[in-house]
Amino acid sequence: MFRLAHFSDIHLGPLPAISYRELASKRITGYINWKRNRRLNLDHGVIDKITDDMLAAKPDHIALTGDLVNLALDKEIEMARLWLEGLGPADAVSVVPGNHDAYVPGALARACRAWGPYMTGDGRQPVKGKGSFPFLRVRGNVAIIGVSSARATAPFMASGYFSKAQAQRLASILDATGEAGLFRVVMIHHPPVRGATHTAKRLYGITRFQQLIRTHGAELVLHGHTHKPTVHRIDGAAGASVPVVGVPAAGQAHGGAKPPAHYNLFEIDGAPGAWRVHFARRGISDASGEISEISSAVLSGEDRSA
Ligand SMILES: [Fe+2]
Ligand SMILES: [Fe+2]
Repeated sequence: MFRLAHFSDIHLGPLPAISYRELASKRITGYINWKRNRRLNLDHGVIDKITDDMLAAKPDHIALTGDLVNLALDKEIEMARLWLEGLGPADAVSVVPGNHDAYVPGALARACRAWGPYMTGDGRQPVKGKGSFPFLRVRGNVAIIGVSSARATAPFMASGYFSKAQAQRLASILDATGEAGLFRVVMIHHPPVRGATHTAKRLYGITRFQQLIRTHGAELVLHGHTHKPTVHRIDGAAGASVPVVGVPAAGQAHGGAKPPAHYNLFEIDGAPGAWRVHFARRGISDASGEISEISSAVLSGEDRSA
């Protein structure tokens, strides 16, 4: 059994009551170390609760589907790098970037430089930008495939893009990992489903993505961006249907406009044609802010050809 945890949209906030200008980089490092080491048990924030619970579940791998920061300022990107290092080793955590990580031109390349070890395919050099995606990591009988839909957009836009070049590379990865009998998990920040979000936030290339999955197959698609706990289904190869799973933002407190923070925990068992996926959502369900199981189900690859 392979246990895969999925969370998203941490949107690491500005440091409370301290402006970036007030902080020399050394002090930022100190602040992060303080958070990491939990020396003062004061600000046990929502993200900390989510990640503590997630790490306690001892996942074999963690998938983080983007929007680590807000404005992609250099110091935010650096803070996110330190935060990732506190979360876990780069070979056990996979990251794809979101629109906030590519907020302005040049930001994505800077994020790739900083978080590269978490976005590096097996035996490959760290990603440098959109031309290096998707990356592939094989862990046990699971293929973790990281697609980038992130790009800088005009103000008030949060759209994403799935390019033809990336689609071609994804097709060969899906073919090779499918032939190898692996359970294929595709990570992408924007939901590759029509109507999942409004126009200004949508993914361009949904049709391309869905055609690709219908032709080449995949077992599970994980996304963020909507900050909602959703399961859509798209057609897979040979009549299968592929679950497309979203998750609320990992820092969302109870009582906001969006659902409070969750993470997803998948337990993957079986073999090609007979995969069994147990899917639990854990997170905040009430004003207490405590983490508990929200739902639990078996997520099967329904056969739509019947
Ligand atoms: Fe987000
Ligand atoms: Fe987003």
